[in-house]
Amino acid sequence: MITATETKLPRINMTLPGPKAKEVIEYDKKFISPSLFREYPLVAHRGYGAIIEDPDGNTFLDFAAGIAVCSTGHCHPHVVQAIQKQAAELIHIAGTDFYHRHMPQLAERLVATMPKPHDYKVFFGNSGTEAVEGAIKLARYATRRDKLIAFYGCFHGRTLGSLSLTASKSTQRKYFGTLLGGVEHIPFPYAYRCALGHTKETCGGEIIELLEEQILKRLFAPEEVAAIIVEPIQGEGGFIPAPAFFLQELQRICNKHGIMLILDEVQSGVGRTGKMWAYDHAGITPDIVLTAKGLGSGMPISAFIARESVMQWKPGSHGTTYGGNPVCIASAMATLDLIQGGLMANAQKMGEYIFGKINDWPSRFKIVGDVRGKGLMIGVEIVRDQRTKEKAPDLRNQVIVGAFHRGLLTLESGENSIRISPPLIIDEEQADCAIRIMEESIREAEKTR
Ligand SMILES: Cc1ncc(COP(=O)(O)O)c(C=O)c1O
Repeated sequence: MITATETKLPRINMTLPGPKAKEVIEYDKKFISPSLFREYPLVAHRGYGAIIEDPDGNTFLDFAAGIAVCSTGHCHPHVVQAIQKQAAELIHIAGTDFYHRHMPQLAERLVATMPKPHDYKVFFGNSGTEAVEGAIKLARYATRRDKLIAFYGCFHGRTLGSLSLTASKSTQRKYFGTLLGGVEHIPFPYAYRCALGHTKETCGGEIIELLEEQILKRLFAPEEVAAIIVEPIQGEGGFIPAPAFFLQELQRICNKHGIMLILDEVQSGVGRTGKMWAYDHAGITPDIVLTAKGLGSGMPISAFIARESVMQWKPGSHGTTYGGNPVCIASAMATLDLIQGGLMANAQKMGEYIFGKINDWPSRFKIVGDVRGKGLMIGVEIVRDQRTKEKAPDLRNQVIVGAFHRGLLTLESGENSIRISPPLIIDEEQADCAIRIMEESIREAEKTR
């Protein structure tokens, strides 16, 4: 609920960063690991709805949502109340050793969203990468095989197992030495850059052929492959959706060979695309689904949801101290109330609204190559030349920084794309404001082309 001192729209009162924000940035530089990558100098002081306020009183419209985490907006009263109530009752009781009713309650709700609700079980963790690690282990355990197949451009996390799958930017892997063996990467369908000229619906047939005719015949015998892991919409890789037929084909191949199909929905899940899971658009039935980010509205929680026949490991084979923390679960339950109670539908409606207004950007702006995505997971690819499709990370950065100075928060994605991933609570007025700011920033960057 917005109070009298709060606003729905951005208001920048000074050159950024302001004096108090500068102080925090200097403080941070003294003590915080330089590996963190800050695209522009936003210092968050408080958040409400789709707004972030900095310590100098500037307000920003948040179309980044803490990397698609704050699905219900910042500090939604329903979420805050659930967290406060639970924190006063029980904060922690290692779910790996003891029982508490919240774990099966949230698990039941997650399982109910699966295509065959009675056929799944859940393991809770704290972050996306932990869900990936657990899924790798489960797939290996269940199949007694060890080979893994992932996609170029994918991002699955930064711990050593998940990093072995991640193939997004070489800086994310550089100097970290030998990673997991037995991992092979294949191309991801990328219609805008499809060498064969296929469309967003048809791109990727040749990749399926490569997988079946080359990878599974020349590199890995299928009976050695534990899992294929895929993001239904590549997030960090550029907000690139996989066509429905492509996911269906992966499912067919996995079914044929007893390979686990792992859907990484860490970024795309929990209503963001207008359906609970992005794979729902393809009507498939995965073996293992990974979720995190938007599930907890900012509280650290992740889960992997696996078919019961797959999750048959023995006590002690996998565990965690904090996974299934009662306060995080309370936040996730409140989040699901809101997502299933209208925000998922709003994501679809507002996604269509925004697409309706920006779909023609490639014809209106010389540096916009492509606009793509689903629901409120929208990617805008910036190029120097629409004909050659030369990538323009410098212009992309200018657009993002220009938007920040006008009061709009967005993030980069892939080499040269912008990710638009607002909280699912936004309305038309906020969407119009964000579009206006983006257009001004694109126009400004275009002049320096
Ligand atoms: C698809 C996907 N998987 C996994 C991860 C890793 O999640 P975390 O940063 O919580 O470890 C991310 C993070 O961006 C992601 O987008």
